[in-house]
Amino acid sequence: MGSIAEYIPSETRLFKPLKIGQCTLQHRIAFPPLTRLRNDDDHVPLPLMEKYYADRGSTPGTLVIAEATAISHGEEGDWNNPGLVSDKQVEGWRKIIKAVHANKSIFFQQIWAMGRASRPDLLSQRGFPYRSSSAVPMKGSEHVPRPMTEEEILETITSFVETAQRAILAGADGVEIHSAHGYLLDQFLTASVNQRTDKWGGSIENRARLTLEVVKAVVQAVGAERVAIRLSPYAGFQGSEKADFLPLYTYLIDELKKMNVQFAYLSLVEATGDPGALIWNDKNIHQGKSLNFILESWDNLSPVIVAGGYTPESAAWAVEDKYGKWDTIVAFGRHFISNPDLVFKIRNDIPLTPYNRPTFYNVKEWSGYNDYPFSQEFLESHSDAVHPMTKEEGNGVDIY
Ligand code: PHB
Repeated sequence: MGSIAEYIPSETRLFKPLKIGQCTLQHRIAFPPLTRLRNDDDHVPLPLMEKYYADRGSTPGTLVIAEATAISHGEEGDWNNPGLVSDKQVEGWRKIIKAVHANKSIFFQQIWAMGRASRPDLLSQRGFPYRSSSAVPMKGSEHVPRPMTEEEILETITSFVETAQRAILAGADGVEIHSAHGYLLDQFLTASVNQRTDKWGGSIENRARLTLEVVKAVVQAVGAERVAIRLSPYAGFQGSEKADFLPLYTYLIDELKKMNVQFAYLSLVEATGDPGALIWNDKNIHQGKSLNFILESWDNLSPVIVAGGYTPESAAWAVEDKYGKWDTIVAFGRHFISNPDLVFKIRNDIPLTPYNRPTFYNVKEWSGYNDYPFSQEFLESHSDAVHPMTKEEGNGVDIY
């Protein structure tokens, strides 16, 4: 095997088809879930999101994963992020999914509860409680979350199930359960956040219980082939560091295997993908650690997505060499934001457009979202795959 720079992406397994659940991907480059704030003030997708998602699925057979979407109105914890609860929200997502399917790509809905990572002011304005596994505040915050009651924990499981069902009814090919990065399920996994003394806290078995119960219930409701799970063993984002990551994730993976079903995929974030390090330059205590212990144990039970600072060449190396024993998909977040035709560009060795981080989280705006250009080469050969929406039709806010 050669060095990373020697890999020619188009000649590697990156462009070999792969099945996830009942769907066939035509290549192994995924568009991962990315927080964007282009929903309206009721957390309903704006029309401009149809173009954004359809364009990123412009190469047929691309796995397009939605930004994390709330399972209940009380978990819509940031301004203008999405939910999938009300009929209007479902209709909004149905149109997005239809647009992605029109490009013959595959759509998974990432679903989450935010817990203490929500904005306390937003929740209190709307009469929702600010909650987590325990009364442990976010670093530097004076807002102390209230520990969830057992009844609220059971309700959360039900909300995950019902949201998964709504996603499937809206046309999604599957759902990805977000149990990573310091959001609610991860607030149960992490020992420094979860200080409960009931069966939902304490031992590894107890801290893993909520994630596993959610997975089981969602699998039962929509079928394992439509279910994926995202884990971030090395993240430090939002207080998610885990000193006991090895026994914790070994246990989680063993329990997922014991369910004896075939999931659509497992999604893992590399230490290099820690949002804390990427967004705020936080020091990551796990930098340099490898996901191999999970991939070895999982042993191709289903394909695995890896994410975290990959380049086209290092992605090619990952699928061929680093994770060559298994069926691996590589996710590209930031490059996919600025290159709607990223897959085409990688295949044809066309230079990538740089991304502009300051506009990532702009609210309801077309710019920094739908104004990154397709390459001339793509337009000459596939212009029908570009979603034909104009800025006015997108119904966004124009601050310029
Ligand atoms: C974020 O909003 O910054 C964010 C959301 C979900 C993640 C990671 C980061 O998994």
